[in-house]
Amino acid sequence: MIERQNFGSFAGQPVHLFTLKNKNSVEVSICNYGGIVTSIKTPDKKGNFDDIVLGFDTLEEYIEDNPYFGCIAGRFANRIAEGKFSLAGKTYQLAQNDGEHHLHGGERGFDKVLWKARETSDNSLNLTYHSKDGEEIYPGGLEVEVIYTLTDNDELRIDYAATTDAPTIVNLTNHSYFNLSGATDILAHEVLLKADRFTPIDEGFIPTGELKEVDGTPFDFREFMPIGARINNDHEQLKFADGYDHNWVLNGQAGELRHVASVRELETGRGLELFTTQPGVQFYSGNFLTHIKGKDGRIYEKRSGFCLETQHFPDSPNQPNFPSVTLKPGEKYEQTTVFKFTILS
Ligand code: GLA
Repeated sequence: MIERQNFGSFAGQPVHLFTLKNKNSVEVSICNYGGIVTSIKTPDKKGNFDDIVLGFDTLEEYIEDNPYFGCIAGRFANRIAEGKFSLAGKTYQLAQNDGEHHLHGGERGFDKVLWKARETSDNSLNLTYHSKDGEEIYPGGLEVEVIYTLTDNDELRIDYAATTDAPTIVNLTNHSYFNLSGATDILAHEVLLKADRFTPIDEGFIPTGELKEVDGTPFDFREFMPIGARINNDHEQLKFADGYDHNWVLNGQAGELRHVASVRELETGRGLELFTTQPGVQFYSGNFLTHIKGKDGRIYEKRSGFCLETQHFPDSPNQPNFPSVTLKPGEKYEQTTVFKFTILS
């Protein structure tokens, strides 16, 4: 079932909030400004429902100052060094909106635009956006489609697709911040990441190009580990990011939908299973959050939420040994990510 409500307006256009509800009463709300997932309500082990993502009560707050809560990040999610890249013999200078680097598509990325929304079935919301040639300096007109589906198996499935009329670069993700306890911080949440390697960064969060083994480091999440267990270790990579804010190189075959991560919160008994076709995931421990007034009177402090942003590796356009992010006319960009909400047994 999908319920549509008014959620204010943006640039003179009405914005709607769509609430998808499944047979188990799990609810996911999405607004067509930024394609933002504004809330996900799931039961804990006692059957009490709570909202497990960070966000705001009103559209205005999302428009004013949003640390990318729940949004679709694009045209290129995460960073591009100095905002520069070359393609088909031309060099492009994108916005440097994160220090000297480019972040999440620039000044007005896909998180800050109005998407066209259509309910395509009783459990799917289809969002489309046409990004013009030259928008945020990116080459090529890009047709983007994101389909959010809530299944009766308590999965939020996100299907991304894009086509272009000239060579360009694409990297799309969803930037939801989760907190499975519905309260406090996320340090006791236990995380498992099926990744033998990660991409170390420099002080500006740009990958050095190395694919480093996680073995013997605080980046080894191949077995369940509380987020807080090693986050303050004396490790250069943790110091650079003030915690976790790195890309893990996911095991298995990119392009195949495979299980890549799990998160569990033992107090409430909530679990999260992550599946994706993407080659990487940015595991971000909410290090930049500082005293944000969120939904329902909640205050979000540092590490109130974590993100699992499935993606191509940051700065890929400048890293010849990373999987390619180039999209050419006639090709189709397609990725799928599934968040499955579980109750631990
Ligand atoms: C990503 C980045 C972080 C931060 C957040 C948004 O996760 O890797 O460094 O910019 O987005 O605040």
